[in-house]
Amino acid sequence: MPLPFADRFGRAVTYLRVSVTDRCNFRCVYCMPEHGIEHVPRPELLSFAEIADVVGIFARHGVHRVRLTGGEPLVRADLPELVSMLAGVDGIDEVVMTTNAYLLGRYAVALHDAGLTGLNISFDSVDATTFTRLTRIGDMQRVIDGIRAAREAGFERIKLNAVVIRGQNEHELVDLVRFAAAEGAIMRFIEFMPIGGEMGWGREACVTARQMRETLSAIWELTPDPRAYGTGPARYWRATGEGLPPQGATFGIIGAVTECFCADCNRVRITPQGGLRACLADDHEVTLRDAMRLAPTREAGLLAAERLIRAALFGKKESHAFDVDTITQTAMTAIGG
Ligand code: 5AD
Ligand code: SF4
Repeated sequence: MPLPFADRFGRAVTYLRVSVTDRCNFRCVYCMPEHGIEHVPRPELLSFAEIADVVGIFARHGVHRVRLTGGEPLVRADLPELVSMLAGVDGIDEVVMTTNAYLLGRYAVALHDAGLTGLNISFDSVDATTFTRLTRIGDMQRVIDGIRAAREAGFERIKLNAVVIRGQNEHELVDLVRFAAAEGAIMRFIEFMPIGGEMGWGREACVTARQMRETLSAIWELTPDPRAYGTGPARYWRATGEGLPPQGATFGIIGAVTECFCADCNRVRITPQGGLRACLADDHEVTLRDAMRLAPTREAGLLAAERLIRAALFGKKESHAFDVDTITQTAMTAIGG
């Protein structure tokens, strides 16, 4: 294999997150402004063939896992086709997706057949009213039906993600873990990150990982679960006690703001228009799309893109500093949660 992609700090890139659209059928308060965002015009999006080319470049340099994100990936037409294209790329052994599950009832079987191996589903509340308040549009029952459709289609690795926001869903941690356990899924709680300019983020709104652990350990016995359930920054715990199955339930916490995991960062992101973002918290972006489209041949384009990737990785920062002053200007939906 050619020299794997790595940054100046020796962090190898083994995981690629590809945002396939900036559009979404929800408007989650932590992700999108209420009026939505200005969308990228269609011709500016990477085509499926271009996405497969980008994934191919990364796969030749050490990436073996790809996550499709959005916006909401399933609002892009024919997504299962992209999944099967990526599952067929040499070196890629896992294609997974993050979704709000609204369209999963329709697509779960096709996605599973296409080779998708895992699903992360946004699920912020077990209360229908709170659910709709947080997603602005979302319908909890329909999302639950989507989760069940995924299980029936054969997905075994389902994680439910909740962004925990002070005064909104912070009192639901226990119920969310119980709900996920009953659905055969793993609950994960994510600290509210200052991403996008208008999301009302503030230190007060961010419930910290530590506060979450305290809340849950007041009710249950918690022991660290050393298994990883993925390759990301979540730390997992096993809870036993009231309202849980006899074997207990595993849940994860992602201390995205207060428990910096940058030293183990293994990922970069591709935006819908083919921009490469070396770090979620850095608005700096290089366009792989133009390098590929403007080159005289496909081979030349791939080579140009590869060079840009190496240069961007060289510039990747050691660590983010999420704080009120450093709120990124791009909404999460345009980057790929
Ligand atoms: N903070 C934390 N997580 C976020 N997501 C989107 N916006 C934020 C934010 N501000 C994550 C959610 C969602 C996924 C698409 O992106 O977990 O499930
Ligand atoms: Fe859409 Fe996901 Fe953002 Fe919610 S978090 S608005 S479901 S992209």
